[in-house]
Amino acid sequence: MAQEDLFKKIIAHTKEYGYIFQSSELYDGLGAVYDYGQYGAELKNNIKNYWWQAMVQMNENIVGIDSAIFMHPTVWKASGHVDAFNDPLIDNKDSKKRYRADVLIEEQREKIRLKIEKEVEKAEKRFGESFDRATFVSTNARVLEYQKKIDDLTTRFQKALENNDLEELKQIILDEGIVCPISGSKNWTDVRQFNLMFATELGSVAGDASTIYLRPETAQGIFVNYLSVQKTGRMRIPFGIAQIGKAFRNEIVARQFIFRMREFEQMEMQFFVRPGEEMKWFEHWKEVRRKWHFALGFSQDKYRMHDHDKLAHYANAATDIEFEFPFGFKELEGIHSRTDFDLSQHQEFSGKKVQYFDNELNESYVPYVVETSVGLDRTFLSILSNAYTEENILKEDGSVDQRVVLKIPAPLAPVKVAVMPLVKKDGLPEKAREILQKLQFENNCQYDEKDSIGKRYRRQDAIGTPFCVTVDHDSLKDNMVTIRYRDDMSQERVSIDDIEKIVTRKVSMRRLLEKL
Ligand code: GAP
Repeated sequence: MAQEDLFKKIIAHTKEYGYIFQSSELYDGLGAVYDYGQYGAELKNNIKNYWWQAMVQMNENIVGIDSAIFMHPTVWKASGHVDAFNDPLIDNKDSKKRYRADVLIEEQREKIRLKIEKEVEKAEKRFGESFDRATFVSTNARVLEYQKKIDDLTTRFQKALENNDLEELKQIILDEGIVCPISGSKNWTDVRQFNLMFATELGSVAGDASTIYLRPETAQGIFVNYLSVQKTGRMRIPFGIAQIGKAFRNEIVARQFIFRMREFEQMEMQFFVRPGEEMKWFEHWKEVRRKWHFALGFSQDKYRMHDHDKLAHYANAATDIEFEFPFGFKELEGIHSRTDFDLSQHQEFSGKKVQYFDNELNESYVPYVVETSVGLDRTFLSILSNAYTEENILKEDGSVDQRVVLKIPAPLAPVKVAVMPLVKKDGLPEKAREILQKLQFENNCQYDEKDSIGKRYRRQDAIGTPFCVTVDHDSLKDNMVTIRYRDDMSQERVSIDDIEKIVTRKVSMRRLLEKL
């Protein structure tokens, strides 16, 4: 299936099955803002729990907080967001559509990379088993030409970003012949900077003094609480503070569904270390976070590490964990070495000492920070993209049926078990409810007695329920039920007394945490 079609299908599926709705749909929606429905909210909570347990529960030197969205306006002056949290924007004069200049260039580079992949695929077909990718890409003339284009473009692009050279960004767009996807024209405006923070007024008095911002990252809430947490928690360096919460950005290009939203959620952890030790911890957290994604059990080829072309104003090293979404490889998580920038800035702007006394070294210093920052919504989309599967099923009468199944890792599935009486009579519903009530203490369950059993299985497949338990007439006599497994549709006859054990083993978060 073409990736574009797959993406459209995933979006339609999430709407049809209560995962995600356009915000304020009744009023024709609000751009790049989405609501999570009954199953979406469950999946989101389960992802949050997986992250929190992996980061806070499993690490004795990491604690979690929940800071307010509103903060003193000087926080954002100190952090650099008021002056530097900008995106370079460019408009197409014909379509009147607005784009991020850096994204247009990155997409151009990705297009050239895909041309290399096409050459590799063709050669792979031609040479079969004897094909050696490494030799091919280092010797084939066409591939080398494409690679040179990528390298030249990257060098020029990086330089323009580093120098904040907006004219050069526009020139790259013109030289590369980049056209507007809507109008197809190269009729571009100049590139301008655009601040991404949403501003609002605090209280009833308008004016500059009362302007506050909706936080564009949760990290600053951690920095301004560093002293309080370190002291009250008697934390010793190295230690971390974690937080999950909403962030807001007035994104220029808000496309691609929940990938780029104006209101979204982040799961961030700031790890405070001795100055000079930050690179060791940077490497450590890159590896730990990669494992967290891999533990979900999807193909590892879907993830790649990408070092930043342009470092944010606070970082001395940064790597993205990218995921291959249906629209290409894009950032899923950022790992940044933020130096002592933020704490030093808060020390300067607040006029208060923000330091750590290191007993072992017998000296005080402003700690360095390594940050891991993953988007909850992007993680959600990565899981859905991996989980969405269309399958043809050969039926007993020889005909072919189709099912759509969400193969979400069982510990994260919104509904863990569906309990179903085969028919709505003869005491089967009562028996089914008895089982349901036992399972409900530990698991989010559903009871379903409507329609044929086949239709009910399909409904559960579509929302990703890993287990269906069916109660039939024999169950009343032998205390056995049929348990049906979502992924391979196999069925087993098991004792009612064993269901809880079978289910709990497979849906426990421990299954993921043990892989870390
Ligand atoms: N504190 C560092 C920070 O905020 P970032 O790379 O700007 O760094 C971190 O954001 C993560 O937040 C990204 O990797 C992404 O997963 C998520 N994110 C950022 N902007 C987003 C948006 N507009 N919509 C959804 N997720 C977003």
